[in-house]
Amino acid sequence: MTTRLLFVCLGNICRSPSAENIMNYLIAQRQLGERVVCDSAGTASYHVGSPPDRRMTQAAKARGIDLVGRARQFNAADFDRFDYILAMDRQNYRDILALDPAGQHRDRVRMICDYCRTHPDREVPDPYYGGPEGFTYVIELLLDACEGFLDYVLEHPVATAR
Ligand code: 4NP
Repeated sequence: MTTRLLFVCLGNICRSPSAENIMNYLIAQRQLGERVVCDSAGTASYHVGSPPDRRMTQAAKARGIDLVGRARQFNAADFDRFDYILAMDRQNYRDILALDPAGQHRDRVRMICDYCRTHPDREVPDPYYGGPEGFTYVIELLLDACEGFLDYVLEHPVATAR
């Protein structure tokens, strides 16, 4: 079976495309392409159709990771299309769950930083209005979080109660 992951941030041009492409990089490294597949989306529509932010792309490139994809907006149909939905920050988490008023998908919506093994962060900080160091930090943090989540998914290919 294949587990489908959806990474979600606000604009889908910085954090979630980084998470998606970092996870794909780890999946390729470990030859897990048959078991885990990824996508990303934003809770907002401002950047729909845009490629990843140039500053984010540069920071990823410095770690040997290419960012590909185009922004799209998260919608309620995504709850059925994905096994896990990973929010970057608490506002993303709330905005995702606002589209699930009955709470039937709640347990499959997770905070990606809960899977970090070396960083104490609880959220992936929004780098959009800051300097280049913020983009570099997002890549480092997401490498940690995605490694942790990939190991988790291999143990829990189907969501079970936390
Ligand atoms: P992201 O970053 O949610 O990580 O893609 C942002 C992108 C755009 C904006 C804010 C954050 N914006 O305000 O346009």
